[in-house]
Amino acid sequence: MVERLATTCGPLELANPVLAASGTFGYGDSFERFWPLSLLGGFVTKTLFVAPRDGNPAPRVAETSAGMLNSIGLANVGWEAFVRDKAPRVNALRGRSRMIVNVAGNAPEEFGEIAARVEADRDVVRCDAVEVNVSCPNVKEGGTNIGCHIGQFRDAVRRVRAATTLPIFVKLSPNVADVVPFALCAADEGAEGVSLVNTLYGMQIDTERRAPVLGTGSGGLSGPAILPVGVHWVFKVRAALPELPILGIGGITTWRDALQYLMAGAQAVQVGTASFVNPHACPDILAGLDRWCASRNVAIRDVVGAAHRVGEAVEEPVWTG
Ligand code: SIN
Repeated sequence: MVERLATTCGPLELANPVLAASGTFGYGDSFERFWPLSLLGGFVTKTLFVAPRDGNPAPRVAETSAGMLNSIGLANVGWEAFVRDKAPRVNALRGRSRMIVNVAGNAPEEFGEIAARVEADRDVVRCDAVEVNVSCPNVKEGGTNIGCHIGQFRDAVRRVRAATTLPIFVKLSPNVADVVPFALCAADEGAEGVSLVNTLYGMQIDTERRAPVLGTGSGGLSGPAILPVGVHWVFKVRAALPELPILGIGGITTWRDALQYLMAGAQAVQVGTASFVNPHACPDILAGLDRWCASRNVAIRDVVGAAHRVGEAVEEPVWTG
């Protein structure tokens, strides 16, 4: 299995292309009783701030017909507790699996501050990269306020870049008219890659209570409903910036979903909401990809971007209505 599935995403060498997505995997040790962490190509921690956060009022999650809404509000233990209590444990478990720490702040300056903390503690934490969460839809300050406004976005990424030499992957919001300029801006500011997409804005109404289900009203939609959205934006970003490494995220439930992202142009994928439904989702997807590669005698890195017909212009659909 090892050789067929080995891949790289920018500077990250991965034993395989399956990573666990931020916010669905704790700090790396949540699934310990189900399967060994070392099976994964990598994992992304829950978003970390410098200081701990309680997050939003409950209810914070709701099931929808084809996915899940969340408004967690970036609850986290804070950087210090992560370094002291979480990182040593997860390092003992992870083997070759890559650790990506996801970070955020309430303003561009705070992105720089948390990145500086990561840089200062990098030898203790032993993380392989930083994912910059400029795209959480569930916070009043920061979040999509930054990820949807190119000026603030650029400022946040620039500050992270100035603070650390670790590889950075900027997590992009789908809640914009066009994701490509944000990917371009991340690359311009020196990011090694992009992760896309974060959740889409959504709301569910409790018709008996005549009120939104979530404590905050709206939240972020994830799960199978957003798979085609993520695949679309990965395809577009790859077409526009063929050299920019991409971690594909959004609605991956099966190995075929993962393959769609890889063929659209992602070098590796992150699996999120599926793990709440099936705690074995990540190893199941991994096994499916391995079977598929073996049956066709191909290596996973050979299928990356395969859906782009080389030499042929991909036509934009024409609106005739
Ligand atoms: C949250 O904590 O509210 C979700 C994280 C995110 O969407 O970035």
